[in-house]
Amino acid sequence: MNRKYRKTIIAGNWKMYKTATEAKAFVEQLKSSLPRAKRCSIVLCVPYVDLPAAGKLLKDSRIAVGAQNLHWEEQGPFTGEISANMLADLDVKYVIIGHSERRGLFYESDLTVNKKIHAALNAGLRPILCVGEDLDQRRLGVTMELITYQIHAALAGVTPEQMRHVVIAYEPIWAIGTGNTATPEQAGEVCSAIRGILRKLYGARIARSTTIQYGGSMNEKNAAELLAQEDVDGGLIGTASLDPDTFLKIIQIANQD
Ligand code: 13P
Repeated sequence: MNRKYRKTIIAGNWKMYKTATEAKAFVEQLKSSLPRAKRCSIVLCVPYVDLPAAGKLLKDSRIAVGAQNLHWEEQGPFTGEISANMLADLDVKYVIIGHSERRGLFYESDLTVNKKIHAALNAGLRPILCVGEDLDQRRLGVTMELITYQIHAALAGVTPEQMRHVVIAYEPIWAIGTGNTATPEQAGEVCSAIRGILRKLYGARIARSTTIQYGGSMNEKNAAELLAQEDVDGGLIGTASLDPDTFLKIIQIANQD
């Protein structure tokens, strides 16, 4: 990470875990034990139904609330969907877009990822755009080509001004939920390549100030070495964000001088 130029962001992605009751207990515990230093931003991306409770408890705190998805239209006959404005109305500040579980299990295309990025930005939300290769793609040596394509497609039409609100998360699919964390060198290499792509698209200043997270079996044991990479500006954390003590340990590591 490089705090001089960009924010370090530790974000939990709870996926489909925790009821609203469980979310309240978690948030209360985390809030009461946060370190004083504020060297990293903290985000909790919770299930939709937990948003009202989390939003209420975290209002005026230093933990921001995030959602895990949205629909790209403002409103309409889309049964089961939630719009960006609905999220913003609940004090949601961040939204994960293009997570590999959504791309893979719910057939999200690059086109809908792009539409969702625009919907989030238009509603004043900060998208956390997820990109990452699967194991075959890594073995075939096409990781950089895939990520270049994913970023170009997701950010089509996004202006330099809007780009200041976008966070990118590099999440290799083979590392998610597997315990096979990318090595710090692997994570650093791809995050640095992502910054290079942003430099070409938006220029050096925006590339330098964009937060690029790593996600995929990040935990309290490997966080320090991952975050020591110059271009790894935080984590998008699944499993290890479900336990307040473990999540707190990662926050403490990101807070260290
Ligand atoms: P794990 O930390 O459980 O590997 O999940 C990572 C992830 O998908 C975060 O979005």
